Order: sequence, then C-alpha cells, then structure tokens
Amino acid sequence: MRICVVGGGYVGLVSSVCFAELGHFVNLIEIDENKSKAINSGMPPIYENGLKDLLSVHVGRNLHASTDYDGISGSDMSIICVGTPSSADKRLDLSMVASASESLGKSLNDGGSEKDRNAYHVVVVKSTVPPGTTEEIVIPAVLRYSGRKPDEIGFAMNPEFLREGLAVQDFMNPDRIIIGSQDKRAGDLVESAYQRINSPIIRTGIKSAEMTKYASNAFLAAKISFANEIGNVCKRLGIDVHEVMQGVGMDSRIGPRFLNAGVGFGGSCFPKDVAALIKLAQDLGEDPVLLSSVMVVNDRQPARMVELLQSRIGELEGKRVAVLGLAFKDGTDDVRESRAIPVIRALREGRAHVAAYDPMASEGMERIFPDIEYCQSAADALRGADACLVMTEWPEFSKLDKEFELMHSRIIIEGRRMLSCQDKEGICW
Ligand code: UDX
Ligand code: UDX
Repeated sequence: MRICVVGGGYVGLVSSVCFAELGHFVNLIEIDENKSKAINSGMPPIYENGLKDLLSVHVGRNLHASTDYDGISGSDMSIICVGTPSSADKRLDLSMVASASESLGKSLNDGGSEKDRNAYHVVVVKSTVPPGTTEEIVIPAVLRYSGRKPDEIGFAMNPEFLREGLAVQDFMNPDRIIIGSQDKRAGDLVESAYQRINSPIIRTGIKSAEMTKYASNAFLAAKISFANEIGNVCKRLGIDVHEVMQGVGMDSRIGPRFLNAGVGFGGSCFPKDVAALIKLAQDLGEDPVLLSSVMVVNDRQPARMVELLQSRIGELEGKRVAVLGLAFKDGTDDVRESRAIPVIRALREGRAHVAAYDPMASEGMERIFPDIEYCQSAADALRGADACLVMTEWPEFSKLDKEFELMHSRIIIEGRRMLSCQDKEGICW
C-alpha cells in the first residue's frame, strides 16, 4: 500500500517507520526541512528505542521524507499526525490539523496523473483530537479543497496508544487497534494496512474512536492519581504504598499497571489530554469532578516533594540540591510536562543551587532552565550536595550506592521508587 504520513514528530515518524517495516511504501511529509533532511539521512530527530535501526533499513528504499505534499494523490491513504498542542485556555490548538487538512485537500486535487486524481483515497486522523474534530474540521476542509465527491474519498480516525521509549514495540504489538470510520470501505482500507499485525481490531464510528483515546488516557492518568492519593495517606500512616498497590493490582478487575505512586505523570499526552477532556466536558455543561481531581492530585505532587525536602533541610537558600532525572519518564529525552520542571522552579525560587543530571534529557531541560548546573553523571551532581531528589525512573538510578557517600549530608528523597539504598525516603512511602 502507498501511505503518506503528514507530520514527522514522535507519532508520525514512528508510524512511518513501522508501516515501512510492515511492507508499505511510505512518504513522510514533514514541513520542517531540517527534520526532513535528518530523517532522509537515517538520523531520527528524536530518540526512540529501536527507531534508528529500523529507519536505516527502510529509508531510501520504501520510506522517504519530503517537505511538500507531492506524493499524496498517488497514494492510497494519508495519515494526519501533526501536533495538537494546548492553547492558552486549555482547549487544543487544532490549527495544525486544519492546515494539514487543507494542504492534503489541495494536493489531492492538484498533483499526480488524472488516474491518480480519480483513485479512491482515505484520509486518516491519528493525532489526538476532541470528538467531532474529524467530522467538523478535517472532512469539510479536505472535501472543499480536493473538490472530490464523497464517494471518491473516505475518512477514518485511528488513534495511537504509543508510549514514548516503547513506541516501536507498542506499534508492532498493540493491545488493540481502534478504527473509526464513516463507512465500511474506508475502515476496511485502514484495517488492511495493519494486516500483518496480530491484535484485536475494534471498528467504531469516528467520534467513538476519538473519544476512546481520551477515555483511555484519562483512565490511566486516574489510576496514577489514585495511587498517589492513597500513597499520600499511606505516608502519614507509615505504610508502604507499593506493598499496598501490589495487593490491589493483583485483583484482575484492577490490574497491576499504572499504579506506581510517585511525583505524578508528565509527558506530551496525559496532562494535555485530561485537561482537554475537562474543557470539553465543561463546554458541554458538565462538571467533570473526577477528572478535575485527577489533575489536582497530579499538580500537587511536585509541591509535596519540595515541602518534604524543606522539612528535612530547612531553608533552601544556598543549599546544593542534586536533581536526578529530568525526562518526564525513563527511556526518552523528552521533558514535556516533566515533573522535574515545577520542582526545579520551586528550588530556584527558594534560591537553592540545582545540580541536575539526566542520561538523555539535559539538552531539553537547558532550553527551559539555561542557568542551573548540568552534570555529566549522578556522582557529579551528588558531590557536596545537601540533598538529592530522584525525579525520573531511570533504571541506572537503582544501582546508585557509593555515589551517595559524596554528599555533604545524606538526605535522599525519591519521587520514583528506584533506589536500593536503605536510608532513602519516598514522596509517599
Ligand atoms: C502529536 C500530537 O500532539 C498528539 O496529540 C498526537 O496523538 C499525535 O501527534 P507528536 O508526534 O509528539 O504528537 O507531535 P510533535 O512532536 O509536535 O510532531 C508533530 C510534527 O508535525 C512536527 O515535526 C511538525 O514540524 C510537523 N508538522 C506540523 C508538519 O509536518 N506539518 C504541519 O502542517 C504541522
Ligand atoms: C502515554 C500513554 O501511555 C500512551 O498510550 C499514549 O497514547 C501517550 O501517552 P507516555 O506519555 O509516553 O504514554 O508515557 P507513559 O508510560 O504512559 O507515562 C506517562 C507518565 O506517567 C510518566 O511521567 C510516568 O512517569 C508516569 N507514571 C506512569 C506514573 O507516575 N506511574 C505509573 O504507574 C505509570
């Protein structure tokens, strides 16, 4: 199948490479020329486990990146994977989805041969968009600019459930594939693109598919906030919340995953998606108390971390605080909505000296905090520190031991349960 992917960020690039691996011919349209060039030279602009190897197998063979939409009209399917950032009012900024739809429509009309322009084509939305977006923004724009009749073009919504760091693995081995389509023909074409993947396929309407993504992420975020709230109570009672959640998670109705209590969830999806779902509910006249509380618990956890630190070391001013972990989770260089951000901000407001270390994400954090100290190793950050805060679940932190002897005073607080040393303390354990 000939597939065009619009947008070469985390989702678009991983999807392109994985569709190429499934044997399709992929044209990745990425408007940023530097990113597009990097992709064509086999260098992914982001770090994602296994991505570089797969890209190098397919680039120049059945995968090609470009900055223009030329390949669209000769392709069977195009997939919109552009960004959907939060706007100032917590709704989503859908302008990139709208402009990609317009460009897609124009090129379905302009480019290719007469035969290409008359061939059936399906436009798929993969970006996370509020229910109604595909029908209200994408479909009218594509129809208007392509001039195609509704029977010459199909539309579908196919949400992604890719975890950063594990995105290639998640694409190839999904728990399920959701395909929402207007009609059977469009949905069947999308389904055939995943033929070589062995997983249940759920066929729905377009709005249900859009909502399934929001509901899934909101539920996972709720699991984390639930574990954190129970953890905060456990901490006061001297109970180990991880022992509790181990028992809770073994109930097959609940399941063990996403019950790790700690400093809360970050990343490009959970905070943004839950906030957007709250806004959507409010706009409809609902009062989404449960979802609002999920965010309140999450927003409070970093402040609790700093309060705990202050209760152990007193005034922050002049203290050297080692911050271990800057990425929003392990296995990625992404710092979007990282819980380290509000913690570092509070430390700086208290005039502490921040010595930060992350195996991958220092460069990203340097754009947000250019004037804190970035160290080359955990040992360098810990040397002479008055306290240490663990912010990211990097496996290498679990091996830290002698490095803590370099500290000026041994105050060790974990926001993620990682350390094996005895004299540590957890944010909620
Ligand atoms: C994005 C959405 O934010 C998310 O909600 C969704 O589920 C999938 O797509 P991500 O891939 O992480 O996630 O976005 P981002 O890293 O911002 O990448 C988007 C890419 O699209 C950027 O590289 C941008 O340059 C590109 N883009 C944007 C285009 O190529 N064309 C456009 O018209 C707009
Ligand atoms: C998430 C979803 O899992 C994925 O399906 C999707 O569509 C995109 O958003 P991602 O943001 O890459 O993926 O990371 P994820 O592994 O879900 O972790 C998100 C955040 O939750 C991280 O900050 C992580 O540290 C935190 N987390 C996760 C917890 O605090 N406790 C847990 O038990 C699990």
